[in-house]
Amino acid sequence: MTPLVLAIETSCDDTCAAVAAGTEIRSNVVASQSGHERFGGVVPEIAARSHLLQIGPVVDEALEQAGVTLDDIQRVAVTAGPGLVGALLIGVQTAKAIAASRSIPLVAVDHLHGHIAANFAAGRETELEPPFLCLVVSGGHTFLAVVVGRGPGEWRILGRTLDDAAGEAIDKAARMLGLGFPGGPELQRLAEGGDPNAFELPRADGVAGLDFSFAGLKTALLYTIRDLGEDEARRQAPGLAASFQHAVVEQLARRTARALAQTGLERLAIGGGVAANGPLRERMQGLGVPCTVPTHDLCTDNAAMIACAAQFTEPLTHEQALGLEVHVTGGSR
Ligand code: KG4
Ligand code: ZN
Repeated sequence: MTPLVLAIETSCDDTCAAVAAGTEIRSNVVASQSGHERFGGVVPEIAARSHLLQIGPVVDEALEQAGVTLDDIQRVAVTAGPGLVGALLIGVQTAKAIAASRSIPLVAVDHLHGHIAANFAAGRETELEPPFLCLVVSGGHTFLAVVVGRGPGEWRILGRTLDDAAGEAIDKAARMLGLGFPGGPELQRLAEGGDPNAFELPRADGVAGLDFSFAGLKTALLYTIRDLGEDEARRQAPGLAASFQHAVVEQLARRTARALAQTGLERLAIGGGVAANGPLRERMQGLGVPCTVPTHDLCTDNAAMIACAAQFTEPLTHEQALGLEVHVTGGSR
């Protein structure tokens, strides 16, 4: 029988816990943190302290929503990296403590594996057969990979960002436009009232192969706002937001189309917070091959995706579980 898993994710600024049986999600609780907005980005110290306060209530809530208690949990899964060290430590230590005190197996999950595995939720692993192409776009990562299996590290990176992650660039652009943090959802909302062709912004066409670059686009937006002047930029904010979003989406979609052509792969999936973006989802679904997109709550950081990845990951031995460390960079092959 599929074991009932409690999954924990604390790699950045969301405190997350979920209960799942295989890829069937029973609950998925996310507590977003406050206190980072005035700094315009995630402050690692604030994130770690906030996880420490929230992890207990969030785990309780996930159990309650699933209608179970800790006695029913047969396995604990946790994000061991990549992410902020202090933030990861809170989740890993909590998971270790629960697993050790209950004598149940612990599964260490790579956060990026989680973003890919979100596509397997609700039993969809049977229809999404590897190999497939996956675009992972988040605040910390942007890459295109061939997924060759459902297990950990079973993907090969074809191209990645040479500078900012797409979400990072979006958050900085949102800040330039006077929006809050994280900027993605607000930028998308503002862009709805603007013309995506109002401003000509670069799409990194000069970057060869399957790599990405968003630093030039970010600088171009900065100069455009400066040239317009504060008042005019405020008046034209919807057009600026729409043009910026369009440039990001086009770059992501064109590289993905190129990767599909080069590899001959006939299936596509996307993951990561930016994959919650409406225009991106629509554009990716129009590339000529079936494209799986996780629901919005499974795109942005969450623990249900960690449970999905755990379904395809061997649990640690007792000794490995006791010695589990966190890691700051990702793994793939
Ligand atoms: O995956 P995620 O929650 O955290 C990381 O692993 O980084 O991704 C967060 C990123 C942020 O940059 C956020 O602005 C972006 O995802 N994001 C969006 C949208 N929702 C979240 N970007 C564009 N449109 C959205 N609707
Ligand atoms: Zn993430």
